[in-house]
Amino acid sequence: MRTQIAKMNAFLQERITGMRIVQIFNAEKQELDKFRAINREYTKANLDAILYYAIFFPVVDIIAAASLGLMVWWGARNALVEGGITLGVLVAFPIYINMLFRPIRMLADKFNTLQMGLVAAERVFSLLEKTEKIEESGHLAPAKLRGEVAFDHVLFAYNDKDYVLRDVNFRINPGETLAIVGSTGSGKSTIINLLNRFYDIQEGHILVDGVDIREYQLQALRRRIAIVLQDVFLFSGSVFENITLRDPAITREQVESAARMIGAHEFIARLPGGYDYQVMERGATLSMGQRQLISFVRALIFDPDILILDEATSSIDPESESIIQYATEKLIARRTSIIIAHRLSTVRNARNILVLEKGEVIEFGPHEELLKIPNGRYRDLYEMQFLQMAEG
Ligand SMILES: Nc1ncnc2c1ncn2[C@@H]1O[C@H](COP(=O)(O)OP(=O)(O)O)[C@@H](O)[C@H]1O
Ligand SMILES: [Mg+2]
Repeated sequence: MRTQIAKMNAFLQERITGMRIVQIFNAEKQELDKFRAINREYTKANLDAILYYAIFFPVVDIIAAASLGLMVWWGARNALVEGGITLGVLVAFPIYINMLFRPIRMLADKFNTLQMGLVAAERVFSLLEKTEKIEESGHLAPAKLRGEVAFDHVLFAYNDKDYVLRDVNFRINPGETLAIVGSTGSGKSTIINLLNRFYDIQEGHILVDGVDIREYQLQALRRRIAIVLQDVFLFSGSVFENITLRDPAITREQVESAARMIGAHEFIARLPGGYDYQVMERGATLSMGQRQLISFVRALIFDPDILILDEATSSIDPESESIIQYATEKLIARRTSIIIAHRLSTVRNARNILVLEKGEVIEFGPHEELLKIPNGRYRDLYEMQFLQMAEG
């Protein structure tokens, strides 16, 4: 029963959060059928459980009643006729019998509770037993970083030998912007995951301010790096809380001035309640661009030394694009930034551009230089975009 209800909860949770996808693909009927099947399993498990209850308890009761009957029959004859035992013993005995059977009945009940607990514990333990991949080894915890990033012969695979990055080398000076371009699956996001030490590399070094990132405390390192993802996560709460992430040290003035700087203040002020506007269902009532702007304000408030935008601007509607473009410029000004982007318009202003292909750096340099490479990959990408724009 417990296993079945866990299955049902998992199913419901996924389908409810992904309701839009289900509706878009017109899959309501199939999903409902799947739900019915799971529900039927659950009902069956429930009925089974009830059946066992219905057998077990009456059997225990019948045995209890029968033993009482036997005892009275045998004991009464013994006490009254033969005088072997006293009346007191005869009276005491049924109470003893009750005392014997109550624990047995309770045992069954406790066993049921125990089973529920075991099923739940199994899931907890399977999580606890996951070995932490990243070992906290470093001690350095600088309050501020200069923001120099270097990848030095980095070799990395998520699963052994299946290399996703092969011998990646590059360097970003403090305050510079690096743009990474490359086809889907070439390893762009992986570079970000490594810089944050979500995974450890197999060979080579990743240096921040000239120090291997394994020498830093994880917390300290990640606190100085901010990532803005394409899929912005907003939780239920006010816009203000979504920006400060409930850090009480951040004042409303700070939030407002950051929002003004990014160019997000206008739209936030126009929401009913302004900064107290309640975000619902992960921000479903806000547009993609608006959610993006909120996440930009969030990043600006935390004033990171290294900023990462992972395809943050790739799904914005054309109207918001100029606002986002402006916000991006504000955000990356005077701090080390890594921008992963589909749009070459966001890329061309970067100090250097890194072109990644199947985990290898194939081109590296500023926009103008890369355009000069005959039959270069970047040049290809660039021309392709221009053609598209001309045609569109
Ligand atoms: N957590 C992971 N575990 C195993 N393989 C992964 C994981 N994340 C990404 N990959 C693989 O690594 C490669 C690069 O992925 P990614 O860095 O996300 O590409 P990009 O961001 O350039 O589209 C892909 O082949 C992908 O399948
Ligand atoms: Mg990616």
